[in-house]
This record gives sequence, structure tokens and C-alpha cells, in this order.
Amino acid sequence: MKLSSAALSSLSLLVVSALSQSSKFPLLGGFDEGGRRVETSWVKSTKFWYNVPLSTSADFLLRRAPSGSSHLKRKSDYGQSPIPRLGLEAVWKKMIQLGGNVSMQSNPYGGRMAEISPSETPFPHRAGNLWLIQYSSNWKDAADGETRLDAINQLYDLMTTYVSKSPREALLNYRDVDLGTTAHGQADSGYSYFKANFHRLIRVKAAVDPGNFFHYEQSIPTKSVV
Ligand SMILES: *[C@@H]1O[C@H](CO)[C@@H](O)[C@H](O)[C@H]1NC(C)=O
Repeated sequence: MKLSSAALSSLSLLVVSALSQSSKFPLLGGFDEGGRRVETSWVKSTKFWYNVPLSTSADFLLRRAPSGSSHLKRKSDYGQSPIPRLGLEAVWKKMIQLGGNVSMQSNPYGGRMAEISPSETPFPHRAGNLWLIQYSSNWKDAADGETRLDAINQLYDLMTTYVSKSPREALLNYRDVDLGTTAHGQADSGYSYFKANFHRLIRVKAAVDPGNFFHYEQSIPTKSVV
């Protein structure tokens, strides 16, 4: 099975937690039978993210009942230089101030990710990126939406100084309508997700789906919007 680069990148944290056999990842120092680091298949790693035991039958993935939270927001960033100590302190302070209403998680880049040319596949976030950051908030009561979106935006704003710029890059998997939607004639999200590959994707889209049959808020437009 050949995974898309985007899928692989979103799993890089899991590679640390799930694939650290010393022969394959010597820098991780081997594996821990206690369960913090185990080697497992990609399908089983999906169970890890759903918090079910790895021994659960793969049929688990066919159950389509929605899990816990009913509302969520995701945003993402790419870190391209270390965050200075004062910056980290500002981040911790902000997160404490926001009372746990937003989480921040990062996946290390580099290694094989950095060896692949940014134009080889649509996924452009290659050499020069140190890590991917995901900001998240989940909540049950619709009335909490405003507070939660405000919390995630405050942290995202504070991070502006420490992450990629022009475009501020983002991971497609963490769809973020704040980056612009085709409905509003803004295709900025295309640059954040695909950088220069966006132009090629527009040409492909125009050739294979000129009527824009497959579309959603941030789908590739059929003609250049810039
Ligand atoms: C966190 O969000 C909840 C709503 O989900 C809100 O009631 C609470 O005041 C927020 N906490 C802070 C510190 O903003």
C-alpha cells in the first residue's frame, strides 16, 4: 500500500509512538514493551488514535457511529525555525489563560520528509520545515462555539511570529475555512495547502473536472483565481 504524503506526515507522531523498532529507527532507542512505543501496522495505528486496544478487530473501523464530541475546530502551522525561550513562555501563558480550551500538538518533520522534492507530489511541505503544529478544540454544546473559536484564534495569532509566512502554510487534512473558501472567491487556502503546486492542480482540475462536479468549500478551482 502506498500512503499519500499528507497521510504519512499526519502520522509522523504516531511513527514515534508506534514504529520505533531499533533496527528501523535507531535514534529512538528501541522499543518499550510497556506500551508507550510499539511497532504496529498502519491500520492498527488508526485504532491507537481512536483510543481502542490495538488487539481490537479491524472490523472496528467499519462502525461509523460518531464518537464523543459534536463540534470541533482545527488549525495548523509549520515551524521553520526554533521558537525562542521567551516565545515558548508566551505560548504556555496564553494556553494557561485559555484554561485548556485549545490544545497544541506537533509532529516532527525532516528526515525522509525533507528529501522529497516539494513539487514531486501535491504535498509541498518538505525541506525547511522542522515541525507541523495542530491547534484543536472539541466541544459538545453549540453555545460554547464562540468561546472556543476565540481561544484557538488567540493562540494562532500569538504563534504568527514563530511559523511559516507568505504563505502561512497549513496541512490540508486539518481543513480550516478561515484560510479562505472558494464560495467567497478566495483561493488563498490553496497556497497554504499546496504552495506553488496549486497552479498545477488548477490545470489538472480544469482538464479532468471542467464542470466542477466534485467541489467543497476549499476544493481546487477550475481556473486561476489570481
Ligand atoms: C472555556 O470554554 C468554556 C466553554 O466551552 C467556557 O465556558 C469557559 O469560560 C472557557 N474558559 C476560559 C478560561 O476561557
